[in-house]
Amino acid sequence: MKRKIKTLFVASEVVPYAKTGGLADVSGALPKALAKLGADIKVVMPRYYSIDKNTLEHIPMALGVDMGAMGELWAGVYRTHLPDSDVEIYFIDHEAFYGRSGLYHESSAYEDNDKRFVFLSKAALQLSRALNFKPDIVHANDWHTAALPILLKTALREDDFFQETSSVLTLHNLQHQGVFGKALMDILGIDWKYFTPMELEAMDNVNLLKGGIAFCDALTTVSKKYAKEIQTPEFGFGLDGHLRAHAHKLYGILNGIDYTEWNPAVDRYIAANYDVDTLLKKKACKRDLQERFGLPLREDVPLIGFVGRFVTQKGIELIAAVMEGLLEMDIQVVMLGNGEFWAENFFSHVAEKHPQKFGCYIGYSNALAHQIEAGSDLFLMPSLFEPCGLNQIYSLRYGTLPIVRATGGLDDTIVNYNHETGEGNGFRFDYAAPDALYHTVKWAVETYYREKDDFLRMQKRAMRAHFGWLDSGNEYLDIYKALYYHKKIQRYQ
Ligand code: ADP
Ligand code: GLC
Repeated sequence: MKRKIKTLFVASEVVPYAKTGGLADVSGALPKALAKLGADIKVVMPRYYSIDKNTLEHIPMALGVDMGAMGELWAGVYRTHLPDSDVEIYFIDHEAFYGRSGLYHESSAYEDNDKRFVFLSKAALQLSRALNFKPDIVHANDWHTAALPILLKTALREDDFFQETSSVLTLHNLQHQGVFGKALMDILGIDWKYFTPMELEAMDNVNLLKGGIAFCDALTTVSKKYAKEIQTPEFGFGLDGHLRAHAHKLYGILNGIDYTEWNPAVDRYIAANYDVDTLLKKKACKRDLQERFGLPLREDVPLIGFVGRFVTQKGIELIAAVMEGLLEMDIQVVMLGNGEFWAENFFSHVAEKHPQKFGCYIGYSNALAHQIEAGSDLFLMPSLFEPCGLNQIYSLRYGTLPIVRATGGLDDTIVNYNHETGEGNGFRFDYAAPDALYHTVKWAVETYYREKDDFLRMQKRAMRAHFGWLDSGNEYLDIYKALYYHKKIQRYQ
């Protein structure tokens, strides 16, 4: 196909401008890969208060955004390029919505999150008109931008400008669905006939993600296993039936990794750079990590790291339940994260009680996340559900063997250690129970102490694995192209 597919990619967070989790990593990397593969792509996100206007180019246009019952609101526009690329990223500026310290919440979720993100979706569509950039594909991510496929199939169904446009919605996390009071229908500005259980309605509220799933032309999620899991009651968060009804357009595409950022050979945050041939230098990173957490500087002890949000999804209750038992072993544990208050207190308390074995940093630190990946021997990720998970894939490249619950992307990327053959790249368990986690960590620790050759071979195997964005990008592009041709055929029938 000679013509470049025109894509408008909209997300609520994009690395390096704003990040709370993996969505930002994906939104920063996937558009660059798609551009390399030949897409003509523009990215759109909010201009949060934390993003310095002076680092961006001001575009002298004011977008009038029709917010239905709220009337017309105005948005300013800024622009730059994603680092090391030609991909343009546009920032929607609106002080009243984005001039705050958080992305989604401070002590609690912002009460007007529905308006803040419907505004983002509507402004992105207005922007594409203002730039005369007629998208073949509008690519939305999670509930924040799920209004895009909804609007395209309802209010804008007859709109000339978007006649050639198809939509893709990527589900990064089904737990958060964007459920709001039904007054949102009048801000979306769409006909109430769409307020049905098959489309936007859920228990007399508007469920944006549900609507997005109903109206998008293709639905993707970030691993093959999660694509199956979300069609079951255990993982569907109430939308499993709805997802089964739309399974014909659901695809699982595993996330890639940005190896310019997450690669011990070039990582600028770590004490020593190393690769699979110079793995011995990883010791310097371990020592550095022990120093940072004030732990005894021991080379021979297995050091287990954790990086992630302190929320139920990440299995923090399981970790808390087994921590005292684990610390009876000859190990060291370091944790980086923030989130639920009880967990922050709990792990801080464990650190005070066991300063020789356990360290924790409550907060957000990108540098420390890199240092934990590099300095640990094992990486703990016992998630209850995990759409893809990036940290375990980073860990592989750093030769830090993941201990995971076999779910979602963890199941798709981590191969269990086989004591007979020495195969594998990590340690897995199935049941989300403290005992299962405890015994799996114990097994990993014993392997570290007793099966040194196997452990080393697994580290090297892990480091050689490649989860590049170009492979995933190609799968997205295939979907884009299929939708593009489908639209063409439809138009001339
Ligand atoms: P999720 O998006 O569900 O949080 P992922 O594994 O996909 O999980 O991505 C999490 C990303 O956020 C990773 O890049 C990880 O390093 C980063 N991260 C999470 N918590 C922290 C933290 N406290 N400090 C620094 N980075 C963090
Ligand atoms: C979500 C998921 C995580 C995934 C990330 C990027 O936050 O929780 O598993 O890796 O999105 O797709």
